[in-house]
Amino acid sequence: MSSASAVAARFLLRGVHVATLRPGGAAYGALRDAAILVEGGRVAWVGAEADLPRVLGPVNDLDGEGRWVTPGLVDCHTHLVFGANRSLEFEERLGGATYEDLARRGGGILSTVRATRAAGEAGLVAASAPRLRLLARRGVTALEIKSGYGLDVDTELRMLRVARSLGMAEGIPVRATLLGAHTLPPEYASRRDEYVDLVCREMIPRAAAEGLADAVDAFCEGIAFTPAECARVLEAGARTGLARRLHADQLTDLGGAALAAHHGAASADHLEHASEEGARAMADAGTVAVLLPGAAYFLRESVAPPVEAFRRLGVPMAVATDLNPGTSPLLDPLLALNLACVVFRLTPEEALAGMTRVGARVLGWGDAMGTVEVGKRADLAVWSVDHPGELAYWIGASPCWRVMRGGALTEGAGA
Ligand code: NIG
Ligand code: FE
Repeated sequence: MSSASAVAARFLLRGVHVATLRPGGAAYGALRDAAILVEGGRVAWVGAEADLPRVLGPVNDLDGEGRWVTPGLVDCHTHLVFGANRSLEFEERLGGATYEDLARRGGGILSTVRATRAAGEAGLVAASAPRLRLLARRGVTALEIKSGYGLDVDTELRMLRVARSLGMAEGIPVRATLLGAHTLPPEYASRRDEYVDLVCREMIPRAAAEGLADAVDAFCEGIAFTPAECARVLEAGARTGLARRLHADQLTDLGGAALAAHHGAASADHLEHASEEGARAMADAGTVAVLLPGAAYFLRESVAPPVEAFRRLGVPMAVATDLNPGTSPLLDPLLALNLACVVFRLTPEEALAGMTRVGARVLGWGDAMGTVEVGKRADLAVWSVDHPGELAYWIGASPCWRVMRGGALTEGAGA
């Protein structure tokens, strides 16, 4: 990736159309024939270029030549840090094994746990940094990274440190989430309660005290943790002041959506099998639905989340890659948008809002990013497209032309 230029004190992006993603106005919050003035890493002015106030003093500028600008993409659910990959299991699944079969045989998440424990901190950075750079070149300007492939105190904390240091090294805001309750490690096979104790009494308090985590998460599923066990994790997160997330109702309906809502979670994620009651509880609590169509596609899931109920009840929908080695080896944020539309039937505008404005809200960054508005971080992506709906339309295009992060301009991945 080309290196970021120094943050110019004042920068003018002109000759563009802007999909601001501000709600309530034109589709995509669109402004045509527009310009964006950036000062001190923030958006200082945005509007029709013809209305641009006289800018005093020297200004670096860039002519977008009619391209579209969106807020930088916010990927609010990833497992980007992991050792090795699971392409051999992919072949086994294509031969007929299910994700649950592999998990029960000690494969699945546990095979990545073995590789992640063995990798060491430097090995994890080396494996993960290229994935982060690829997302960044493709327009991602902020993201969440979960632990969950350590399942012991040292490796979980190491994963969180790696997540933090990757963000610092690449200059990308990262929210780190402790997912100690991802699956039961084999050494606790007959001692489930002791493992949940370890997560609640040691991992979570230490991650919070050492400033390594912003949130906690748990996998509420037959092959992972029961609703009662997940409730303990969410309570421990709340006690230490961390935000709560939940992998909920992905493979079966265990009432995960309502559980997340009752614990004041920022989001419930996956939700293919969530019920109408679950959606209603989320609406009442203001819990966001994080939709992960890459996982549904890669697992050949035939059931889609209750998108129509979310819409009707006013549950905001985020879209994320779920980048992970087992169920969503998805390194292309625009492909996640396409899948959200084709597989889950979101509109392209809903999908794009889901990976900008709503994704930022899930991470607690709704005031700082996610729309193109005065005062927000100058996190922008410039795309070689004629309409913002194309971002969810093309399959495998690389239309990202330039990316600006905190006012610093970088190259995009393609056109
Ligand atoms: O979000 N659902 C659980 N966790 C991940 C998959 C993890 C894995 O299989 O490695 C997910 O899909
Ligand atoms: Fe996940």
